[in-house]
Amino acid sequence: MFGTLARKIFGSSNDRILKPIQATVDKINALEDKYTALSDDELKAKTLEFKKLREEGQTLDALLPDAFAAVREAARRGLGERHYDVQLMGGIVLHQGKITEMKTGEGKTLVSTLAAYLNALDGKGVHVVTVNDYLAQRDSEWMSKVYHRLGMTVGCIASGIEEQERRAAYACDITYGTNNEFGFDYLRDNMKFEAESMVQRGFNFAVVDEVDSILIDEARTPLIISGPAEDSSELYRAVNEIIPKLSETDYEVDEKAKSVSFTEEGTETIEKLLDEAGLLKGDNLYDVENVAAVHHANQALRAHKLFTRDKDYIVKDNKVVIIDEFTGR
Ligand SMILES: Nc1ncnc2c1ncn2[C@@H]1O[C@H](COP(=O)(O)OP(=O)(O)OP(=O)(O)O)[C@@H](O)[C@H]1O
Ligand SMILES: [Mg+2]
Repeated sequence: MFGTLARKIFGSSNDRILKPIQATVDKINALEDKYTALSDDELKAKTLEFKKLREEGQTLDALLPDAFAAVREAARRGLGERHYDVQLMGGIVLHQGKITEMKTGEGKTLVSTLAAYLNALDGKGVHVVTVNDYLAQRDSEWMSKVYHRLGMTVGCIASGIEEQERRAAYACDITYGTNNEFGFDYLRDNMKFEAESMVQRGFNFAVVDEVDSILIDEARTPLIISGPAEDSSELYRAVNEIIPKLSETDYEVDEKAKSVSFTEEGTETIEKLLDEAGLLKGDNLYDVENVAAVHHANQALRAHKLFTRDKDYIVKDNKVVIIDEFTGR
C-alpha cells in the first residue's frame, strides 16, 4: 500500500531513470529544425565546430544534444532513416557506458552511430564491436553513409587483412570489427618491440553490439596467441611421455571450466617423474630454473586430459588447428 502510494508520488525507479533521459530527448528534438535547415556542407562543418568546442573544454555531455541532432539529420539524409525517440534514448544510455536492451529489428545499428559519433569527436578513435566479420563489414559500409556526411572516417578490421590496412583502419575516427580481431590485434601488439609497428593506437570508447554474446558466451574461450620461443621440442617430447604415467588421483579435471590441475599427490608424482627423466634442476620443482618444466608439465596435462582430436582440434597438413567451439571453425 505504502509502496503504491510512494510510486504515485515519486514515480517508479524506471521513471526516475527515464525522466532525465526524456529531458535530453526533448532538447534534441527542439534542435531538429535548426539542423534540417543546414546545407550539406554546413552539416559537415558542424563536426569541426564540435571538436573546437571540445578542445575549449566543453564536456561531451554538454555537446550531446547538438551532436545527436546532427547525427539524426545525417541519417535522414544519408539513409532516409530518422532516429526514433527511443533510438535517441538508447544512444544516450550507450554514451553513459551502460547496457541498453533493444529487441531484434529495433534498429540497434543506427542507435550505435549516436554514441560512436559523439565519442569520436576527440579524435582518439571509437571501436564498434560486432559478433562476426559479415556484420562488421555490413555495418561499417551501411553506417558510413551517416558518418561521411559528418566528415568522419570509417574503417573495418576484417579477418585476414594486412598490417598496413589494419593500422589504417585503426587510424579512422570509427573502426568496426569483431571482438576476435580487436583482441588478437591487442595481443599481437603487445609482442612487438617498437611502438611504430603496433596497429592499434590506444583505447578511447567502444560500443559493443550483441553484448551478451560477446561478453558472456564468447568470453569463455580465451584468445590464445603463440609466438616463436626458444626451441624446446625436446622438452615437449620428454614431458609428453611422462603424463601417461600419472594415476587418476594425481590430477583433477573440471570439464566445465576447461581446466585441469595437479593434486597435492600429483605434484609429488610429477616432481619425481621429471627428476627421473633428468628434467629437473636442483631438487625443488618450484625453483625458478624449473619454471619451463613445470609449465610444460601443466600444458601437457591439459593436452592429454582436456583436448580430444577432431573435437577440440584437428590435424591438417601435419599441423594442429584448434577448433573454435562457437563457430565450429
Ligand atoms: N529510425 C529508423 N527509421 C526507419 N528504418 C529504420 C530505423 N531504424 C532502423 N531501421 C530499419 O530497421 C531494420 C533493422 O535494423 P537493425 O538491423 O539495425 O536492427 P537490430 O536491432 O540490430 O536487429 P537484430 O537484433 O536483428 O540485429 C533495418 O532495415 C533498418 O534499416
Ligand atoms: Mg543488429
